Amino acid sequence: MSKASDMVRTEVTRLSPYNSGLTIAEVMQRYAPARIAKLGSNENPLGPSPTLATMMQASAEIFRLYPDPAGRELRQAIAAKYEFGEDQVILGNGSEDLLSVISRAVLRPGDAVVTLYPSFPLHEDYATLMGASVRRVTVNDDLTVNVDALIEAVRERPRMLLFSNPMNPVGSWLSAGDLSEVLDAAGDETLIVVDEAYAEYAEGGDYASSLRYLRKGDRPWIVLRTFSKAFGLAGLRIGFGIVGDPELRALLDRVRTPFNANGMAQAAALAALADEKHLARVVALAMAERTRVESFLRNMGLDVAPSRGNFLFFNCRQNASAFAEGLLREGVIVKPWKQQDFDSYVRVSIGSPAENDHFMAALSRLL
Ligand SMILES: Cc1ncc(COP(=O)(O)O)c(C=O)c1O
Repeated sequence: MSKASDMVRTEVTRLSPYNSGLTIAEVMQRYAPARIAKLGSNENPLGPSPTLATMMQASAEIFRLYPDPAGRELRQAIAAKYEFGEDQVILGNGSEDLLSVISRAVLRPGDAVVTLYPSFPLHEDYATLMGASVRRVTVNDDLTVNVDALIEAVRERPRMLLFSNPMNPVGSWLSAGDLSEVLDAAGDETLIVVDEAYAEYAEGGDYASSLRYLRKGDRPWIVLRTFSKAFGLAGLRIGFGIVGDPELRALLDRVRTPFNANGMAQAAALAALADEKHLARVVALAMAERTRVESFLRNMGLDVAPSRGNFLFFNCRQNASAFAEGLLREGVIVKPWKQQDFDSYVRVSIGSPAENDHFMAALSRLL
């Protein structure tokens, strides 16, 4: 072992680097394509509410001063919108920050964490880092959630049940009925954490936010949301959690860094939350374009997972990294999945109509 790996905790050496993909500048440097469609990180092609541009112009004081460490104004707005108490809302430097805060606060070595697989890697990484063991519940062959296996795993009383709904990277989701069965199976000793990063895209039909079920009971739970996706603020880093028990929220508050939600992000999130028309436009575009791209992929004979997110997960039937490199040469950034048994799968974000056309044309050439 090297000196550096001797220095850190063994759990750190077990982590894989985060697969964040290439930036536009890196792709330009590597292949210099005529144009680039960045479809690897589930960003939102319409961006944030246009009201933000005005707000940014008046923002010199925001840069100079420390932000409100309690994030009071934004927390009040979130509490009002989702109909919870302000004392139940916690802000994060992105929801990924809150995944880290929750894991650091709650998990002890040897604890079990149940999650869906393939998973959002950070759902596993922070648990691994804390010495917890991750129990993966793999999707069915048709890429839908294996609800029975999930219920069985929850009945084993893990310390934490942590999954995203809709699932990232797959896009499939637990129907309202399945969700309530899974949540009902959890005992008091299990902290339920539902990551609803894509909920704004998924609302309606047989999807329901877990907030609807969890608000009634008194079991320990946290629901995570983000401003990075449908609200279009990925670059600013702001997300939030709604915590069932205000006392648990107060304890989690001690674990986060005091100024984890920066002033610009708090102000922008407030403006984004208020612009419901823009949000509706974003969601409508993503839904229409997802239907178009999904039909295209199916017509190409590819297996595509059902999706309620702003992305699609499909089997390219070859090594996904090599396939994604081929698309990069054409100026299209997608995310090749690298987890075991899913390394022939690719996740593509739904972009603007032009970006999606670019992706589909490049994929036609490649196949
Ligand atoms: C399921 C899920 N949770 C959390 C995150 C992190 O989002 P944020 O930008 O809020 O940190 C992502 C981002 O891709 C995600 O897909």
